[in-house]
Amino acid sequence: KKLSIIGMPMDLGQMRRGVDMGPSAIRYAGINERLKPLFSEIHDMGDIPIGRPEVVVDKESNLRNLDLVAEKNTLLSEKVDEAVNEGWFPLVLGGDHSIAIGTLAGVAKHYQSLGVIWYDAHGDLNTAETSPSGNIHGMPLAVSIGLGHPLLTNIGGYAPKVKPENVVIIGARSLDEGERILIKERGIKVYTMHEIDRLGMAKVMEETIAYLKERTDGVHLSLDLDGLDPSECPGVGTPVMGGISYRESHLAMEMLEESKLITSAEFVEVNPILDEKNKTASIAVGLMGSLFGEKLL
Ligand code: ARG
Ligand code: MN
Ligand code: MN
Ligand code: MN
Repeated sequence: KKLSIIGMPMDLGQMRRGVDMGPSAIRYAGINERLKPLFSEIHDMGDIPIGRPEVVVDKESNLRNLDLVAEKNTLLSEKVDEAVNEGWFPLVLGGDHSIAIGTLAGVAKHYQSLGVIWYDAHGDLNTAETSPSGNIHGMPLAVSIGLGHPLLTNIGGYAPKVKPENVVIIGARSLDEGERILIKERGIKVYTMHEIDRLGMAKVMEETIAYLKERTDGVHLSLDLDGLDPSECPGVGTPVMGGISYRESHLAMEMLEESKLITSAEFVEVNPILDEKNKTASIAVGLMGSLFGEKLL
C-alpha cells in the first residue's frame, strides 16, 4: 500500500478563520511517523496553493466565496485524480468540509458506484436555497449527489459524483429542515446519535459495512472531526454537544480497516486556533492509525 497525503488549507467554506491551519496541525501531530510503519511508501504532496484571497459573498446566489471555493476545489480534484491514477491511496487533510467537493470530484470518476461514509455531526446537505448560513462547508454532500450551484456540481466535468443511496451518514445530531427533507426524499441512510446510542457503534458499523459492500466498488471516508464530541475534539468551528466518543471512533476505524472497504479518505474541520494543545489534530492522527491498520497486539 502506498499513501499520498494532500493538504488542503482552505477556510473559505465558512466564517471562522483558522481551519486553513488544519493540515499543519495534523502534520505537527505526527502523521508521518504514525503512518510510516503501515505503508510501504508515503508521499506528502504538500499543500494545494490557496493563497490569501479576499472573501466575497456572491450576491446573486448568496453563496459565500463561490468562485474561489470552486476554483480551489478544482485544483484539489486534479491532484486527487492524479494520485489515484498512479496507484496511491489519497488522504486529504482539511481545511473546512467544502473540500470534500474537490476530493470526491477527483476520486469518483475511478469507480462505477462509489460509496461514501459521512462521519459528521451535520448532514452537509444544504443548497443555496436551504442553507441558513450561505457557508459552502454545509453543502458538500448535496453538491456530490448533484444538487447545488453548477460551478460546484460540475467540477471534473461530470455529475453527480455519488448516488444518494450509496451514502451513509454517521453521527448526525444537527440537521436543518431542508436537509431532513432531502434525506427522506433521496433515501440517504443515516445513523443519528440516537441509533448509535441504541444499537452501539459495533452494530452501526457492521450494518454500514454490509450495506456498502453489496452496492459499491470503492468507499470514500469523509471524516469531520466535529462528528466526535467537543469535549474530546474542541478544535472545530461548528461543535455540537452529544457526539461520538473517542473510543467509539477508534472502533469504527478498526472495523473499517478489517472490512478493507475504504479506498480514499479525508479528515476535515481541524481548527488549531480553537483547539487545546493540538488535541483535535492528535486525535485525527490516532484515528488514521486505526483506519490504516495499527494494532494493539
Ligand atoms: N448546517 C449548518 C450550515 O449549513 C452547519 C454546517 C456545518 N458543516 C460542517 N462541515 N461543519 O451552515
Ligand atoms: Mn511523485
Ligand atoms: Mn461536515
Ligand atoms: Mn460537521
